[in-house]
Amino acid sequence: MTLAEAILSRRTIFQFKPDPVPKEVIEKILSFGIWAPNHLFTEPWRFTVIGEETKRTLAERYKQTQMDRTPAHVDAGNRAKIGEAGYKKFMSKPTVLAVSCLQEGDEQRRREDYAAACCAVQNVQLAAWDAGVGMQWSTHPVTMAPSTYDLLGLDPAREYIIGFYYVGYPDEVPKPKRKPISEVIRWTP
Ligand SMILES: Cc1cc2nc3c(=O)[nH]c(=O)nc-3n(C[C@H](O)[C@H](O)[C@H](O)COP(=O)(O)O)c2cc1C
Repeated sequence: MTLAEAILSRRTIFQFKPDPVPKEVIEKILSFGIWAPNHLFTEPWRFTVIGEETKRTLAERYKQTQMDRTPAHVDAGNRAKIGEAGYKKFMSKPTVLAVSCLQEGDEQRRREDYAAACCAVQNVQLAAWDAGVGMQWSTHPVTMAPSTYDLLGLDPAREYIIGFYYVGYPDEVPKPKRKPISEVIRWTP
């Protein structure tokens, strides 16, 4: 796959095959993240690979959040079903990663480090795609809850969770959708 093919064909994957992604493949994919550009070589990215026990705890919290978000008119039985579906959905993601960035120094440095860590994420997504592995970036409330920082042992005063990444072999690849480039370019004289 050429770089252009990877950029154009990569899609966010929501449905995964149940097969686990081997640890070596996860590590290889993540190793592309550290080559993202970053100002002053702060290397702010951090990758937390979530183990099975932690994943179950997060799935319980995901379930609770889905139930809390359900409109008040939904009865208890259906609320419980929504919760169960949430638990299953979370558990169906073969690997869950948290990506965070160190947040130190002044506002400008924090912005630069956040931007660099997001570049790292896209490197990882493209490397994954090239290896036949799909990902979904999630900023669901569970990903950034104070209890998640606690669970993962991250200090929110020093580190910011950018998102969770669900990783696995794609079962379904959604169709792309973008405006034409001419709609988003401005040329100044
Ligand atoms: C910062 C960020 C946060 C995202 N959070 C979510 C999310 O919480 N839930 C979700 O379904 N997709 C999330 N996505 C994935 C986008 O929905 C996805 O990139 C978009 O549909 C475009 O699809 P593509 O990646 O296949 O081009 C997020 C993407 C980004 C960049």
